[in-house]
Amino acid sequence: MNESPWWSRAVFYQIYIRSFADGNGDGVGDFAGMRARLDHLSWLGVDAIWINPFYPSPGADHGYDVADYRGVDPMFGSLNDCDQFLADAHSRGIKVILDLVPNHTSSEHPWFRNALSDRDHPDRDKYIFRDPRPDGSPPNNWESSFGGPAWTLHKPSGQYYLNMFASEQPDLNWRNPEVHDDFEKTLRFWLDRGADGFRIDVAHALYKDDVLRDNPPDDSPVYHGYMYDQPEVHDLYRNWRKIADSYPGDRVLVGEVYLFDPEKSAAYVAPNELNLAFNFLLVWVTWDAAAFKDAIARPLEALDKVGASGAWILSNHDVERHVTRFGGGEAGLRRGRAAALLLLSLPGTVFIYQGEELGLDQADVPDDQRQDPVFKRTGGILKGRDGCRVPIPWDEHPHGYGFSISEPWLPAPDGWGSKAVSVQMQDPGSILNLYRTALAARRASDALTHGEFKWIDVPSGCLGFKRQTDGDKLISITNLTSELQRIPAVGDLLLASDTDVAVHDGKLELPTDSSAWIRA
Ligand code: GLC
Repeated sequence: MNESPWWSRAVFYQIYIRSFADGNGDGVGDFAGMRARLDHLSWLGVDAIWINPFYPSPGADHGYDVADYRGVDPMFGSLNDCDQFLADAHSRGIKVILDLVPNHTSSEHPWFRNALSDRDHPDRDKYIFRDPRPDGSPPNNWESSFGGPAWTLHKPSGQYYLNMFASEQPDLNWRNPEVHDDFEKTLRFWLDRGADGFRIDVAHALYKDDVLRDNPPDDSPVYHGYMYDQPEVHDLYRNWRKIADSYPGDRVLVGEVYLFDPEKSAAYVAPNELNLAFNFLLVWVTWDAAAFKDAIARPLEALDKVGASGAWILSNHDVERHVTRFGGGEAGLRRGRAAALLLLSLPGTVFIYQGEELGLDQADVPDDQRQDPVFKRTGGILKGRDGCRVPIPWDEHPHGYGFSISEPWLPAPDGWGSKAVSVQMQDPGSILNLYRTALAARRASDALTHGEFKWIDVPSGCLGFKRQTDGDKLISITNLTSELQRIPAVGDLLLASDTDVAVHDGKLELPTDSSAWIRA
């Protein structure tokens, strides 16, 4: 029997709620839409869901600007709809984690309104207000992740406030104890309602340098050193972990720890802190075996030292879809299929971003319809993240592909009908069916869910490892070269990313851009 907690071997499906399924016909996804599509997620075979923020929000950053942490934005439904969704998911054996956004609130949050109304209001200290430098410029050189300075001048008071993202997302001051108290309430509020845990937004950023020192120059090895990754944050997570652990059922805390040094991010999943932290190295790799190996091996080594396991992703709502990153079109799709088997054979937890199981490319959103604050704040220099957030196609209906009966909030690209769920379900060779088969095979294999991991020797340009328990042994190999590889292999082909993969006379024939799982 394997006693590890459910999340340590789970496959999560990330739902970007605005773009998953629209139940009330206003062009924006919602709880009713998600409930109606739960059977599909059961069919696909995921263990858990992470839902992006659905709390009341003016929507300056599509929900990552929260005005009320313990409610549901009417655009997505009601608290009752959320409860029903949790109950429906649980009745299908699917866990649900929510997105907690503790680094900043919306500028419409009552605290921030109070903070602006009066310099002496106690809520002012819940944010980071500072006087300008003598020349009137912002208090330090920090830059917003969305472009421009990380400070916004509040003219009436003459002070700047810190916003690491949009101006509508003022950063909280985690050195204020009332902020702690209120977030504890929020954690308990959702855990009491049955949430199975949280994904924690920009988990490494909550504390800033005490005296807000200037960041070192960009080429310095200390990347944005004083805005992120301050030691005080670890006490907070030890406390949150106690709260989560006081509930039954192994509630999980997953950090969006966007640090590129695996040792640094592993510190967040040390014993008694967060349970998981996404490995972001994989969302930046190109289609190159050495790059993949590096992005897997270094985190594994660092995690091993603290006794934690991995959380693997190829895509999410912030990055270009990986089929496009890997070349796009047919070639990108073939690589996306190979990457799926690679991803789903890694040790630990896997996160799939909605639409990757359909092999979706990054959508081309016309500039005049882009909504991401990144596009706006950089004056269009950066296109932003709308292209990975376009509503997913459910059927071939030319108007919105079954996502909504009205105009979707971001325009549906031409030609997505053939990628729709209903079409791919009928095609045994589709990427959707590949994901489904792989999820079932993974679930049925002890080696894949909790087997030991070991790299194996493979030809240069390929990636291979084995996963092994006492009774089960599986080998995963991916060919990232442009040639067919013949690799000695003892065992049966359990699953291949394409039909041209075969085992003949003890040799695995692995064509370009394909993966195989071999049961040894
Ligand atoms: C995280 C989210 C991203 C959001 C940002 C600010 O990086 O994933 O979508 O814009 O935090 O909350």
